[in-house]
Amino acid sequence: MNIKVKKILSKKNKSKIVCLTAYSKNIAKILDRHCDIILVGDSLGSVLYNYKSTKEVTLQTMINHSKSVRLGVEKSLMVFDMPYNTYRNPKEALKNAKFVMRETKCDAVKLEGGKKIIPIVKQLIKNKIPVMGHVGILPQTDKKFRFKGKKQKESEKILNDTKLLENAGVFSIVLECVEIKLSKKITEHIKVPTIGIGSSVNCDGQVLVIDDLIGLSQSKFKFVKRYIDLTKIIEGAVKRYKSEVLKKQFPKAKHSFKN
Ligand code: KIV
Repeated sequence: MNIKVKKILSKKNKSKIVCLTAYSKNIAKILDRHCDIILVGDSLGSVLYNYKSTKEVTLQTMINHSKSVRLGVEKSLMVFDMPYNTYRNPKEALKNAKFVMRETKCDAVKLEGGKKIIPIVKQLIKNKIPVMGHVGILPQTDKKFRFKGKKQKESEKILNDTKLLENAGVFSIVLECVEIKLSKKITEHIKVPTIGIGSSVNCDGQVLVIDDLIGLSQSKFKFVKRYIDLTKIIEGAVKRYKSEVLKKQFPKAKHSFKN
């Protein structure tokens, strides 16, 4: 088993797992010093491209960003989020996942879904491609984005999906906007770590979209905590630069070349 995957598994019930998304090298390099997992999420569709849904994200776009992220990641486990319509059956999933692994040198792939995708998950794992699961809100296919686990039938389905994914061999499962008590139950019932986003402190780890955390996005989701307002900080720097250019205070002689 991949040594980085083994490390993630070993954290269950010992220490929390820290995960963030990254879409490019410079940010990935900073995150790599502090994260266990770096996810090249298809959330880049809305965060970087203003797409209405992640359905519009292509495999090639994900590969391009992942190649950049790979340049900044050494120690963390790098996960590639397989985009919509790239894993509709085991054959297609294997062809695309093999291509992705070869092109991006990522450590694992993430797939959204439960029972329906089990044959696909098994096919990838049989071919030594580590898989991260994703249940709760499924941005690639859900019509409405509301928290999951409100009704008993829905809770039972999600719990069952996580057990099926565990049995299929995933090394962790993202729980997206799963109700507090349900995320606790899932985390207690399965042996692989759960990584929550909007799914409470009960999960084995947490993931957030990096642009939300640093204040580069305008996201207003209840589960987001903005730790810094980088928009304000960058704007301050750009304003100073502009002012210095207009006043001819920049560049100075030390920024220029002389024979
Ligand atoms: O695409 C993404 O960034 C994700 C995380 C929010 C889990 O799937």
